[in-house]
Amino acid sequence: MFMDLLKRRRSIRKYTPEPVQPELIQTLVKAALLSPSSRSINPWEFVIVRDPKVLQQLSESKQGAGFLAGAALAIVVIADTRKSDVWVEDCSIAASNILLAAADLGLGACWAQIRKRMHAEGRSAEDYVRSLLTIPEYMGVEAIIGAGYPAEQRPPLSENGLQTNKVHYDRY
Ligand SMILES: Cc1cc2nc3c(=O)[nH]c(=O)nc-3n(C[C@H](O)[C@H](O)[C@H](O)COP(=O)(O)O)c2cc1C
Repeated sequence: MFMDLLKRRRSIRKYTPEPVQPELIQTLVKAALLSPSSRSINPWEFVIVRDPKVLQQLSESKQGAGFLAGAALAIVVIADTRKSDVWVEDCSIAASNILLAAADLGLGACWAQIRKRMHAEGRSAEDYVRSLLTIPEYMGVEAIIGAGYPAEQRPPLSENGLQTNKVHYDRY
């Protein structure tokens, strides 16, 4: 059930050292490539990283990306900013689809925000990731999704306490 999947998906930041089976990686890739995009431009591209040394370097992109050091896999979500003015939205949908597909497969996954974040004073996290992975300047780096077999369990989300006060009908 889709509603159960939405509840089961939690940010998992601890992973076992086991490499993720190639078929599962391919399912995550397909989930990303099946994403809708504005005017069907599909400006996104994806860099799949499995090399532990590079995962360690990605974990140093910015504060709050440290969990990537222990990930078996990272999917770097990037887009050609020349092709679409709404590449951020397109990337976000693709990243969300990856997170949901991971939860469906029993993998743990978590989003690390890169766009608008700093690597260090005077250097953006986007710039750091671009040079690390030889990504051209015109590609925007939205996020890095870390994934692996989960080494922590988190309780599913609940419908109790949903912020229904945020929902407005017919008028604000
Ligand atoms: C746009 C976005 C950016 C996020 N950036 C980070 C991040 O940089 N590092 C991190 O550890 N988690 C990050 N997260 C995960 C959130 O912290 C997490 O989704 C939130 O705490 C809710 O927990 P849940 O995903 O388990 O429901 C991000 C999530 C989103 C949607």
